[in-house]
Amino acid sequence: MEVFDIMQMLCKDYADKVVFSSSFGSEDQVISHIIFSNHLPVKVFTLDTGRMFAETYATHSRTLEKYNQKIEVFFPKSTDIEKLITEKGPFSFYHSIENRKECCYLRKIKPLKRALQGNKVWITGLRAEQSESRNKVNLFEWDESNMIIKYNPLIQWTNEQVKEFIKINQIPYNVLHDKGFPSIGCQPCTRKVNEGEDFRAGRWWWENNSKKECGLHS
Ligand code: ADX
Ligand code: SF4
Repeated sequence: MEVFDIMQMLCKDYADKVVFSSSFGSEDQVISHIIFSNHLPVKVFTLDTGRMFAETYATHSRTLEKYNQKIEVFFPKSTDIEKLITEKGPFSFYHSIENRKECCYLRKIKPLKRALQGNKVWITGLRAEQSESRNKVNLFEWDESNMIIKYNPLIQWTNEQVKEFIKINQIPYNVLHDKGFPSIGCQPCTRKVNEGEDFRAGRWWWENNSKKECGLHS
């Protein structure tokens, strides 16, 4: 079955309870294109941590212009961030893995829980190729911590397939992908990767002993 057919089936079986999380990376742009160009009743949302790249906001804006459909934005709770920065400053995440996880928790995980609340299916742009742990991820999974079915339509897609799909369908994409950023998260926590480095080497690059995950997909 094609991605579109599966999504259509999910929308029928779980009417108004299917959501898709987009970070505006290439994989997510492929999925948004399938949803928006077919007017599928999937609720698309993004988690705006407040620390995104300008290029990511530009991609967000170009996506709205192209498809003219709703992308719901979830922000962290303002009092959480006021407290965090007042107590620890704006770059606490560089100081320890615990601090970094705290920031990811407040800026991503808590808003994600709000976004998933009351829904039945969560669509993501995960790909097996992206990392060792993602290599074990299936097309469908049960996310125990969020009590939701996870559907990862591009899990078996290669980077080349994603690029090709974007080119053929003239989909707006984050220009940072052309500048050495295969994986894009928050600006202070993402750097360019060098020739031969892993897909996710630029994420939380200063950490050696962490799994390089923010907890959205653990
Ligand atoms: S992360 O966990 O390391 O940040 P990654 O950037 O690889 O994740 O993206 C994997 C998938 O997680 C995306 O395809 C998307 O579904 C979801 N995701 C990641 N970041 C966000 C975000 N800021 N907003 C919404 N969804 C996101
Ligand atoms: Fe905070 Fe960095 Fe995590 Fe973004 S990626 S939420 S800035 S620690």
